[in-house]
Amino acid sequence: MKRDYEARIRQLRSEMTLEEKIGQLQQCGPSLVGAFDVSFDELLNMMFDGRISQEEFNRLMGTAEQDFHEEDLRAGKIGSYNGVGDAATVNRLQKIAVEETRLGIPLLFGYDVIHGFRTVMPIPLAESCAWDPALWERTGRIAAEEATAAGVHMTFAPMVDVAKDARWGRVSEGAGEDVLLNGAYGAAKVRGFQGDDLSKANAMAACLKHFAAYGAGEAGRDYNRVDMSMQRLWEEYMPSYQACVEAGARAVMPAFNDINGVPCTVNSWLLRDVLREKWGFDGLVISDSNAIAECVSHGIAEDKKDAARQAILAGMDMDMSSNSYIECLKELVESGEVPECVLDGAVEDVLRIKFELGLFDNPYQTDEERESGAMLRGEYRAIAREAAAKSIVLLKNDNNVLPLRPDAKIGLFGTLAADGGQMTGAWAIGARPEDCVSIVDACKARGVSYRYCAGEGCENRVDEHAGRSVRTDSMVQETAEASDILVAVIGEQKEESGEAASRASITVSAEQLTLVDRLLETGKPVVVVLINGRPLAIPELAERAAAIVEAWHPGVEAGNAILDVLYGDVNPSGKLTVTFPAATGQCPMYYAHINTGRPGGKSKFTSKYLDAPVEPLYPFGYGLSYTTYVYRNGKTEKREEGIHVSVEVTNTGNRDGEEIVQCYVQDVSARRIRPVRQLKGFEKVSLKAGETREVEFTVPYAGLCYYDWDMKEIPCEGVLKVYAGGDSRAELTGEVVL
Ligand code: GLC
Repeated sequence: MKRDYEARIRQLRSEMTLEEKIGQLQQCGPSLVGAFDVSFDELLNMMFDGRISQEEFNRLMGTAEQDFHEEDLRAGKIGSYNGVGDAATVNRLQKIAVEETRLGIPLLFGYDVIHGFRTVMPIPLAESCAWDPALWERTGRIAAEEATAAGVHMTFAPMVDVAKDARWGRVSEGAGEDVLLNGAYGAAKVRGFQGDDLSKANAMAACLKHFAAYGAGEAGRDYNRVDMSMQRLWEEYMPSYQACVEAGARAVMPAFNDINGVPCTVNSWLLRDVLREKWGFDGLVISDSNAIAECVSHGIAEDKKDAARQAILAGMDMDMSSNSYIECLKELVESGEVPECVLDGAVEDVLRIKFELGLFDNPYQTDEERESGAMLRGEYRAIAREAAAKSIVLLKNDNNVLPLRPDAKIGLFGTLAADGGQMTGAWAIGARPEDCVSIVDACKARGVSYRYCAGEGCENRVDEHAGRSVRTDSMVQETAEASDILVAVIGEQKEESGEAASRASITVSAEQLTLVDRLLETGKPVVVVLINGRPLAIPELAERAAAIVEAWHPGVEAGNAILDVLYGDVNPSGKLTVTFPAATGQCPMYYAHINTGRPGGKSKFTSKYLDAPVEPLYPFGYGLSYTTYVYRNGKTEKREEGIHVSVEVTNTGNRDGEEIVQCYVQDVSARRIRPVRQLKGFEKVSLKAGETREVEFTVPYAGLCYYDWDMKEIPCEGVLKVYAGGDSRAELTGEVVL
């Protein structure tokens, strides 16, 4: 529901002083102060480079407390906070803003609620593998219920940065490599976060990010340059952001990176011409953390003042944590370098979202009583468990070693099996380890016969059954000998993905591979459960493990969801939304690639590596089930509204299941070369054993357009091939001539 606040916005803005206007554009977070006269960041650096010892650092940190800058707030110099996630503090600060400042303009509280608040859901990359917009919206709604109860008004999510390079740590935070899927995921999250009325106390504004193409950083290195053709930007990246704007996201966060040499933070083509003029966005644009000041490092601003000038002129409304606006805008406006009308536009965008959130009429939208009753409800945990199970992708299952027999004696190996806190993954800042169910916890709760061993080289762990701490290398052997089937839980620590976590090698550690080798030597079937935040190059595991279960970082219900799948209570249905390379050197590797004039093949003179296979280890859209599906009778037909595609899918196994049917197209002769496959539709269908269902797609002609050399949008012409099936290698369903 959209109400018209424009008259109230303009009236209030007209009453504001220059200082009060600038104050509304300042977002800050609590900073740490203590018995040290340097900033927390500097203190960290001093510890990292040995200028102070770890002990001294810990002692000083023991004196630290959060400074919420109340005096600046009283002086009208703060319009918003980031990183305040409890009702008492939110209300305390809000009370100062509303009752102690001249105009009583309420504060906007932003927070990174990326995949849940206290009920931490699977990381976005995991949840995207469910291919389930209704689920994505439900988990988004739960995040909003909990976060708004804690006082959050706006979340810095969804992140819909298409990511085609698995080295990039933030691939964990979005919906993978496909632009259609990222758009569907982001739009569902916007609906879930915002609900049907943003002024309701349980609605929070969605801040889509990072605009734009942050996932295309060169070499998968975080914050790195993005340089690509406009054709590629518009065909392969922009649609996911546009889908979120069309879904009604009320805020946008420009990305740290540049696009073709102009940082998004100061890119008026991006923030004004595209976002506001072309897409009609009238919400809030808030910088990424410190991003305005960092335009100096980018080499596009002489100093903070120049960065502030460029940013406000480019359409950046609010400054997150760089203090560029609060320090420089007054002088810039008084000197005429920044017209006051530009400042007024930014102030009105801030006031607008505050009005839309109902903050003027109801600045205290929660309290400690609501907060205490809102978290980790039973029904939330149940949905977290369902989401985690639906996010799991079965990559291998030789001889149907899975599902496990209920009476099987399980040998459980790897520290990740017992570490619930690691299950939340990156950006779970509201998470508490004690909330998380580890795999070992779940084994206990389920009453299965298991023995746990951390593995070689790890500190000794008391073996529940042995009742004693023993040397781990003998324990590996002992545990394996006492078990029927061995489950190795390996992958990545949560710190190995997310922001500032790019990896130059995306394999599992040598220590973990050694543990798996030890287990394989026993000759018993080894099931690998992957806990990770990105695709991993695991050719050796793919070759030798009996089964591989991709569980990602599954959230608070990790252990229960993983056992639900391992024991077959849930028939796995997840499908990959990112390509798994066989080697890091293949990155970036993605399904919607071009064919080249010499597509990789057996002949030497074709596009491939000498030391790696042409194909990925596991392709986009791939995932196994405990049942099997067969596709038949594919049909394609040109209709008025678009290309009609139908295919019959049959559950040919003896278990009910859910199958994600995918529809891809290939324009085989275009005015610019087109990808060998492009996802144009998907549908998850439930099929009972033996059941057949006809699944239909309509691919609108407009969705087939692309850009010619001169950036003119042109229709697809000539032969279009269509592929409908269970993954991106689906067989040809038919073709049409356009
Ligand atoms: C970070 C991230 C961004 C996040 C913001 C606020 O640097 O890039 O995704 O929302 O700061 O925490």
